[in-house]
Amino acid sequence: MNILVTGGAGFIGSHITDAYIKKGHRVSVVDDLTTGFRKNVNKKARFYQIDIRDNEALRTVIKREKPDIINHHAARAAVTESIKNPIPTLEVNVLGTANLALLAGEYGIKKFIFASTGGAMYGMGPFKKPVSEKTPENPISPYGLSKQLAEQTIAYYAGTACFEYLIFRYANVFGPRQNPKGEAGVIAIFGALMKHGETPTIFGDGKKTRDYVYINDIVAANVIGLKRGVNTTLNLGWEKETQDNEVFRTLAMYTKFTEQPLYAPHRNGEVFRCSLNAAKAAETIGWKPKTPFQKGVAKTVRTL
Ligand SMILES: NC(=O)c1ccc[n+]([C@@H]2O[C@H](COP(=O)([O-])OP(=O)(O)OC[C@H]3O[C@@H](n4cnc5c(N)ncnc54)[C@H](O)[C@@H]3O)[C@@H](O)[C@H]2O)c1
Repeated sequence: MNILVTGGAGFIGSHITDAYIKKGHRVSVVDDLTTGFRKNVNKKARFYQIDIRDNEALRTVIKREKPDIINHHAARAAVTESIKNPIPTLEVNVLGTANLALLAGEYGIKKFIFASTGGAMYGMGPFKKPVSEKTPENPISPYGLSKQLAEQTIAYYAGTACFEYLIFRYANVFGPRQNPKGEAGVIAIFGALMKHGETPTIFGDGKKTRDYVYINDIVAANVIGLKRGVNTTLNLGWEKETQDNEVFRTLAMYTKFTEQPLYAPHRNGEVFRCSLNAAKAAETIGWKPKTPFQKGVAKTVRTL
């Protein structure tokens, strides 16, 4: 198949690009390198340094590459940054997505796969964990809001222009190539610091939880998604909560770090608890995560 991956110079998109190429697909990558890196882009992919908000530039690429599928991972993905300065997040994640979805319709794309968020979508609500896709959306950051609006935009254009869509709501993805200098990606950030003997800071009391999924499992879903999963939204997670303190202890073990962490106040816009019910993904596309947290951390630490 002919696939356009946006955000293919970033952490998740670059691994998906590699997997698609390995499976024999023809892949082109669109990325403006805001947070991605040219060196992440597979040498067999054709690379276009383009902002997804740029309609003319995107049109030229889509006309030339004629993708069957758009796999959309480009985004401003920093929660705290989206609170401090919301407009770029809303512009890229909502208008950029609208731009892509409009062109997908115009140029007869067959399927649109989208990287959404489970963590930032469901908010703080007093609902039972792990949360299913039936839980009402309730974002508490402009980032979460931007993903909610992007999902609706894709579903709208898929309906009016008759292409299929598949939305994945990821839990917290981790693994090699996650940027240790970013705002999120606690395993990359803490792991890189601890490997160099530096003490990481936990925001909050260390009891905040996340549902960590290893990159290979997310890539597997995106490979399955080429053939399965039509006009649906699927959570991808382990259904497990891991506290920040446990993340720290696991990393300390693999990096042989012996100090205690520092603690700082909780950051606004971050949910306290997160774990995603992924039963629908298992039923609909036969996806289940395979890499346990500890194994994923060990593999990631080796690459830092
Ligand atoms: N990492 C996670 O745990 C996680 C969880 C839920 C959802 N997601 C989503 O998955 C996607 C990939 O996230 P990631 O962790 O790989 O982040 P990342 O920052 O490594 O990747 C995002 C990529 O998008 C590119 N980009 C940003 N703005 C752009 C623009 N205007 N035009 C073109 N390219 C642009 C960046 O340069 C980068 O390469 C994002 O959509 C993110 O919201 C990630």
